[in-house]
Amino acid sequence: TSQIPVITIDGPTASGKGTVAHRVADKLGFHYLDSGALYRLTALSALRRDTDLTDEHALAKLAEHLHCSFQGGDIILSHENVTDAIRAEEVGNTASKIATFPAVRHALVGLQLGFRKAPGLVADGRDMGSVIFPHAPLKVFLTASVAARAGRRYKQLIDKGFSANMQDLLVDLQARDDRDTNRAIAPLAPAEGALVLDTSEMTADQAVDQVLAWYASVVK
Ligand code: CDP
Ligand code: CDP
Repeated sequence: TSQIPVITIDGPTASGKGTVAHRVADKLGFHYLDSGALYRLTALSALRRDTDLTDEHALAKLAEHLHCSFQGGDIILSHENVTDAIRAEEVGNTASKIATFPAVRHALVGLQLGFRKAPGLVADGRDMGSVIFPHAPLKVFLTASVAARAGRRYKQLIDKGFSANMQDLLVDLQARDDRDTNRAIAPLAPAEGALVLDTSEMTADQAVDQVLAWYASVVK
């Protein structure tokens, strides 16, 4: 599998990783890994089972035994379609907390590596380029201002029928940035060799075009 190309797209919350990674994968006919969804699935399982959110061992067990599958755009957890449920802010916040536990991260490594299949993979998350696929031929670090990201997240939540409050979102987003950036394991930072793309003033399609142009130049 080490010959199968991987494009990693890491960055802070609501920087557009998912949107951009998905479109890049579609354009190239590559598989797509939403690694954040795995942390969200673990968080949802824990919330549903009332697992103690400080019990690293119990959380790692949940992560290791996730019964999930990705079918088209749908995410299935133990036969239930949780595509929308895992996008709730509570689930995202819980995901970012449990993602600070080394044992949880470790439990999800094998699952993530398994997404590397021909003809290629686009993987998005926080540590795709730094930890999971350190030899990827193209690593991108996608970012945008806090204000731009909060505005994007607000619109997404409203469109999905969740209620949202801009002030709360700004606070949550900053807290999540802090946790992701300052945790001891796999902290959020551009991977070695990553190309940084600030999309504050860009549309998602412009970001996609930039990533495709970079990829064309690395495979040439
Ligand atoms: O949509 P958002 O960027 O907020 O989150 P996500 O990509 O769906 O991931 C949810 C949470 O999982 C993030 O806040 C991260 O703390 C964590 N995560 C991680 O630690 N490592 C990854 N590779 C992906 C997500
Ligand atoms: O995965 P991540 O949390 O980084 O972001 P996302 O779930 O892809 O959400 C980004 C949102 O901002 C989507 O609704 C996009 O349509 C929008 N957007 C973007 O992704 N990139 C831009 N340059 C501008 C807007």
